[in-house]
Order: sequence, then structure tokens, then C-alpha cells
Amino acid sequence: MSFPVDRPRRLRTSSTIRRLVRETRLSVDDLVQPLFVVPGKDIKKEISSMPGQYHYSVNTIIEEVEIIARRGIPAIILFGIPENKDEEGSQAWAENGIVQQAIKQIKQKTPDLLVIADVCLCEYTSHGHCGVVQNGTVMNDPTLKLLSRTAVSLAHAGADIIAPSDMMDGRIGSIRTGLDEAGFKDKAILSYAVKYSSSYYGPFREAADSAPQFGNRRGYQMDPGNANEALREVQLDLEEGADMVMVKPGVSYLDILWRVKERFGRVTGAYQVSGEYSMIEAAAANGWIDRKAVILETLLSFKRAGADFILTYFASEVAEWLKGS
Ligand code: PBG
Ligand code: ZN
Repeated sequence: MSFPVDRPRRLRTSSTIRRLVRETRLSVDDLVQPLFVVPGKDIKKEISSMPGQYHYSVNTIIEEVEIIARRGIPAIILFGIPENKDEEGSQAWAENGIVQQAIKQIKQKTPDLLVIADVCLCEYTSHGHCGVVQNGTVMNDPTLKLLSRTAVSLAHAGADIIAPSDMMDGRIGSIRTGLDEAGFKDKAILSYAVKYSSSYYGPFREAADSAPQFGNRRGYQMDPGNANEALREVQLDLEEGADMVMVKPGVSYLDILWRVKERFGRVTGAYQVSGEYSMIEAAAANGWIDRKAVILETLLSFKRAGADFILTYFASEVAEWLKGS
């Protein structure tokens, strides 16, 4: 059948019928809020590259997390900026590290809210790379035991989900073994399985003070031209024991998200990263786009492409918008 019998506009004639036939919906259950925690007390300092996002000290992050939990968001993901950085990134697995402290407090105050702990070394190393550096090279295998140690330390502090974002080969297997041996068989791993070497991370690196001090991350993060390699990364991570996988960044990689979901049918997250956030904020501040509409449209596009959940700096605000909808 075709025109004039077939008229797709019939199902667009009122908001009620559009509501009836809509395939994809955004819900508060889909949202994960990233947060940055810093040493000190009473700190809530706006991040200059990410207006509306803040550095929180442990005592102020608690207040923010209580609001997030009250809005019905199921999970947060934490990033830490340590007092001191060193060659190895030893504050990443310190028993009293900044993220460890924050997790302990958060799990006490809001035990039902899931705490995802990002596992990487770049926020903790003086050189800003995600692994051990020897003679100017980021070494894969020596990094694995440090990642595993960090994951165990974060699990010990009470993290519910461990999310490695370093892109070393074999890290999921190494972390799974580390967690199991430490008695954390039930802690899930959310792998940043597909993480591209992207220019959209710029604002985050300013926020986390984690820009590489020499070179770049192209030797370990993925080349933006590759899609088959993304499927291979997911397969390897699933074989090594990942419970959930993630694709990052977001809107520029919706094709990858779709293919990962289609191929594996596993729990798949998407990360709307800092650069995507800041671009929307900048355009909105100039009055060039309808901020709320664009945010909701981008988040819906992740769902349509197959995401089971979305890490987004807009999470808390969007949860408020979705109330009663
Ligand atoms: C750490 C990490 C990064 C992001 C999440 N974990 C930065 C990077 O790889 O340089 C980026 C998040 C964002 O841009 O919002 N490896
Ligand atoms: Zn890193």
C-alpha cells in the first residue's frame, strides 16, 4: 500500500495519539549521575569547563547525593581528584583515598543508591596517563595489578559496581579475579568496553586535572574510525567477565551502541561525556538552542539506539523534569 491510502501523518494528529504510538521513552530509571569529589571541607566549586557541575568535598557531596536519591535516580558514578599525585597513582587504591572516603559516607547515608566507582589511574598519576609509564610508554601488563588493587579497594569501601575506564588489555579478567579472591563475588563490573580516543573528553580532563602531561591516549583508547574493533572489545570483555558494557562517547557513536546491543544483547550503557554536556550548555547560554528540548532529545536517542542506561551530567535535573510525566 502506498500514498494516497497510506498516510503516516494519521498517527501524528494529536499529542494523545503520538503518546499512544511512541516506541521509546526516557525514564528516571535510565539515568546515572557522574560526580566529582575533592579533598577538603564545605567545598562546592563550579567547574569552569562544565557550568552547572561542581567539585564537591565529602561533606557537601552527601547533600547532593541525597537530592539525587530522592529524585529516584538509581545510580551515581564517582570520580576523585586526590590531594597528591605520584608516578604510580597510589592514591587510587589508598584505603583512605578520596573516593573511598566518599563511598563510605554515601553508603551510610543512602544505602539503596548504587555507587559505581570509576577505575582508572589518570586522575592519580603525575603524568596523567591511565597506566604505568616506563621509558615514555604506557605499559599494559604492569598496570593490571594496580587496577585490580584499586577495584578491590573501592569494593572494600562499599562500591556496588566497578567501572574500569583505562582500556588496558586483559583488565576485566584481572579485576574479576582480584574481586573474587578478595571475597567480592557479587560486585558487578561495568566495563567501558568501547572507549574511543575522543576530543570530547576535554572538559572532563580540566575537571579531573587528568590531561596527559606528554603524548596522548591513542595508544590505548580506540581509533574513532573503527567499528569492528568495538565489537571485538565487547566480546573480549564479556569473555573476561564483564556484567555490563558501555559505549563512550555518546551521540557521535550511536551506530556503535546500536551494533553492540544488536550483536550481544547484553546490558549496555551509554556515556554522554563532558564535551557533549558543555557544547549543549554553551549553545543554550547563547540562546541558540532550546536547552531542555535538546537535552531530552539527545537522551532519547541513546535509548532508541539500544542503551539500557545513560551516564549523563544532566541526570539529576532531568529526573526532576520527568517527575509526574
Ligand atoms: C578516565 C575517564 C575519562 C572519562 C571518564 N573516565 C577521561 C579520559 O579518558 O581522559 C571522560 C568522561 C567525560 O569526558 O565526561 N579515564
Ligand atoms: Zn584514565
